[in-house]
Amino acid sequence: MQKIHVKANRHWMNDPNGFIYYKGKYHLFYQCFPYEARWGRMHWAHVVSDDLVNWEYQGIAVFPSKTDDRDGCFSGSAVEDEGKLYLYYTGVRYLVENPEDINLFLDEQFVSAQMLITSEDGYHFDNIKDKKTIIPVFNNSEIGDARHTRDPKVWKEDDGWYMVLGSTINNKQGKLLFFKSTDKKNWTYMNFVTKDNGFGWMWECPDYFQTDGEQILIFSPMDFNKGGKSYSDQSICMKVMFQKETCHMEMPDTYQYLDYGLDLYAPQTTVDEAGRRVLLAWLRMPKPVDGQWSGMQCIPRVIEVKNDHIYFRVHPNIRNAFSKKINSPDEADENGYRVSFSLEDGETVDIGGYQITRKGNKIHTDRGRLVDTSWEMQTEFSTPDLKDGFQIDVYVDPNLIEVFVNDGEYIISNCVYNLGTDIHQQGNVKYEMYTLEGTEVSEV
Ligand code: FRU
Repeated sequence: MQKIHVKANRHWMNDPNGFIYYKGKYHLFYQCFPYEARWGRMHWAHVVSDDLVNWEYQGIAVFPSKTDDRDGCFSGSAVEDEGKLYLYYTGVRYLVENPEDINLFLDEQFVSAQMLITSEDGYHFDNIKDKKTIIPVFNNSEIGDARHTRDPKVWKEDDGWYMVLGSTINNKQGKLLFFKSTDKKNWTYMNFVTKDNGFGWMWECPDYFQTDGEQILIFSPMDFNKGGKSYSDQSICMKVMFQKETCHMEMPDTYQYLDYGLDLYAPQTTVDEAGRRVLLAWLRMPKPVDGQWSGMQCIPRVIEVKNDHIYFRVHPNIRNAFSKKINSPDEADENGYRVSFSLEDGETVDIGGYQITRKGNKIHTDRGRLVDTSWEMQTEFSTPDLKDGFQIDVYVDPNLIEVFVNDGEYIISNCVYNLGTDIHQQGNVKYEMYTLEGTEVSEV
């Protein structure tokens, strides 16, 4: 059983996949290489939860078994129809495998097809008899790239089923492809959207949805954030205009990062039990923890749009789980603790070596003491100018600090190593600390 954060189990984790509330449980799958704590031939591992707080590992649900997915079951999404679970994903076949490590391809030589596997109960998947290729490898690069087209996100509208795929134009410019279906199996290409000279060369993990009356697009452009020590592939979000009859999408020039700590990537959303739009995402880690495991999921975040701004708030189940007041981090449960405070200009709180400072209208963080300088990682991060105040809620896990500013106006999440168990402050900051209250968590 894992709590709060889903973490890789003695191996490798990347993107969340097939996240859905189905038959009274949250099902989450994730990209997994089950042999070592590094990326390789992809499988879908599976965890299940009643409440988004406690997660039970279910083993590997989807694994390579067909010619089209023999070298990897890449990212995808889930929908339910008439009680049945449908998992859409990208099957990958290497054209040239690395002879020294057959779990990797050589020189970008692979092709991608879109695939479907179903389940009657969310737990049983027949990888041999029940897989189907629904969109074969493209042979017409005018529509989609044979290699870099992936990550189907499927959703339902009143007139049928829709799919968005991430793709590229000639490995130079990112692009999204839209498809429609009435039976979830036969898909018709409808339209695409791209941005001249904007947002990277390949758009991974697109997710489109409506919330608070707004149409929102989240995607992860590759080679977008140039020139720094942080990852160049980053996840961004924006308000868009989508016309479902034609699948025509208009994208603005402006965007928000999902997380200003720049470690978070490849998010996916679903609708929770109470109808909230909730998001999970992969936190990239530079080194396996204790040489054993790499990759974890962020705290579930609820997306809200207010005054033209996209907020990512802590899911109430998580916030309520951290309700037992403590006086020192020593009293915290092994799943960590929450620290809440508000900052005047110039004040700092130091949590085990992780520093959070207010500088004017921004919150600034520094993890310099908690990563090895030889890793050459970016250590300092900043929010944009804040509008809602300077109230901070920090969720502290031994390997991940998530700093929610003004209830999700902005977030800075950073992976850390060798976090201390002390907490102190410069200035006159009053803070309160909370750890997990028992194991039973009820929803409000
Ligand atoms: C994003 C991604 C996806 C792909 C998967 C492969 O991190 O590259 O585009 O489906 O990971 O593991």
